[in-house]
Amino acid sequence: MHNGSLTTKIYVKEQTLSHKKSEEIYESAYKNGQSNAPSWVAAYEERRALVELAVRHFAATGSPLRALDIGCGTGVTTSWIGEIEGNYWVGIDTVDQETLKLHVPRHGTFLQGNFLDDTFVSQQTALQGTFDLIVDHGAIATSLQQSNELAHYLVRVAGHLKIRGVFALLTACNPEGVAYNEALPDGRQRRFFAPSDFAAEPFRKHFDLEHTQVITYAPSNPQNPYSKLENNDRPISIVHAILRKR
Ligand SMILES: C[S@@+](CC[C@H](N)C(=O)[O-])C[C@H]1O[C@@H](n2cnc3c(N)ncnc32)[C@H](O)[C@@H]1O
Repeated sequence: MHNGSLTTKIYVKEQTLSHKKSEEIYESAYKNGQSNAPSWVAAYEERRALVELAVRHFAATGSPLRALDIGCGTGVTTSWIGEIEGNYWVGIDTVDQETLKLHVPRHGTFLQGNFLDDTFVSQQTALQGTFDLIVDHGAIATSLQQSNELAHYLVRVAGHLKIRGVFALLTACNPEGVAYNEALPDGRQRRFFAPSDFAAEPFRKHFDLEHTQVITYAPSNPQNPYSKLENNDRPISIVHAILRKR
């Protein structure tokens, strides 16, 4: 019993430290612009195309979209949704709007805060009501290395999504093997998911998997965070999953 609670305390402390480090990395990346930034700040075209693909999953209905971008960053991949008449966009990020240089769209709201903070989330009127589309591109799921944290997060995401709504998720990935945990060269902890994970628990409890797409960056590609290491010979893959809420 005593050992159990001790372990829990150490674990929570480690989580807090890792979260703090991650926040510092993001703050500094947005402040310093692209010169010294992690690869994702500059490499947004693919991510925007993946969001467009997720939006096309609604094309048949043609109805207005309510979209939530968790960890929206600069908003460059999703905020265009909120420029379209009839749509509504909510972006949430722990970093402030000025540092992000985020332009909030005409039909949209930005919330500065932690999506994993129950008190913060419950106080936001913009998060009341459900969404048609929720995007998590490299924000939270890819940083959750413990299955219980992931399960908890998915309950939260599913709770904000309409039935038959789409969850567009982008994470680090191990294309041919099994999932594993590893830190990126800048220290951010990452879960490298196997694409098949999205069809299994804890995803399957809430979602049907409609589509996965793997993108691999060569060792020297500047969009590969390992390319900053001397003599790097390691590629990196990301996976985009389109999940439909049951
Ligand atoms: C890798 S960046 C991706 C930004 C954006 N989604 C994109 O594709 O350009 C991850 C973003 O998620 C934000 N973030 C990470 N954890 C978060 C949390 N718990 N709540 C809200 N935002 C978070 C970070 O501040 C950062 O802006």
